[in-house]
Amino acid sequence: MLIAQLTDLHIGPPEDKVERLYGTSEALGRAVGHLVALAPRPDCLILTGDLVERGSAVEYGRLRQLLAPLAAIPTYAIPGNHDHRANLKTAFPEVAARAGAGPFVCYAVDDWELRLIALDTQVPGEDRGALCPERLAWLDRTLAARPRTPTVVLMHHPPFRTGIAMFDAPGLTLEGAAVFARILARHPQVERVVCGHVHRPIAARIGGVPASVAPSTAHQYQLAFEGRAYAVAEPPSLDLHLWRNGTLISHRSYIGAFPVLNAP
Ligand SMILES: [Fe+2]
Repeated sequence: MLIAQLTDLHIGPPEDKVERLYGTSEALGRAVGHLVALAPRPDCLILTGDLVERGSAVEYGRLRQLLAPLAAIPTYAIPGNHDHRANLKTAFPEVAARAGAGPFVCYAVDDWELRLIALDTQVPGEDRGALCPERLAWLDRTLAARPRTPTVVLMHHPPFRTGIAMFDAPGLTLEGAAVFARILARHPQVERVVCGHVHRPIAARIGGVPASVAPSTAHQYQLAFEGRAYAVAEPPSLDLHLWRNGTLISHRSYIGAFPVLNAP
């Protein structure tokens, strides 16, 4: 089973500052082309939040158009701080059907040998993320329901401090992260936690489970441990998670044309 993870796509309306400065739609077009050319084709696509910039229905429409070449691939999306839950669900009816009518976009996918749990960390209108008691209880219950099925948890905000001051600022880290770690420690079937939000490649361990942040398909943030981290044109990439023979193997795949150095 091959899972392609795209994150922090930040599709905006054409006049949006992020679209103009960072070319996020063009960048997603290149990421989609990268996946169309991939062999074998990914079995599913996970979108770990900040799919659009402002949350409007128009932006989600643009996003779906850009993702159209991958429309045959089952796609599982979660909201980030820039998303709008209701508009996301309207644009992704398959997500709406799984998440139901509750206040959060939380759902499990049991269609594959690797189980996927989509965990909504959004606090509407704020950059910070939170796992409230309701979401934490849902996660604990959902994990307890299938204790022997290897599982990947998808979430936008990473459940650890990154070491980057701008993302670790007071009030910006994930509320509920300590309880989240204790829940993971009780459910050893969790193979990995995959996140976005930081626009950088990061790895850590939480509750005994490896966790990763995938870079953005568009702009990245400088590795500035102190002070402000500015957006930079470091290479965009996506993550490919391969589940084979009981091991989850993750590759970071850079998007772009890179010269072959030892061509005959
Ligand atoms: Fe974000």
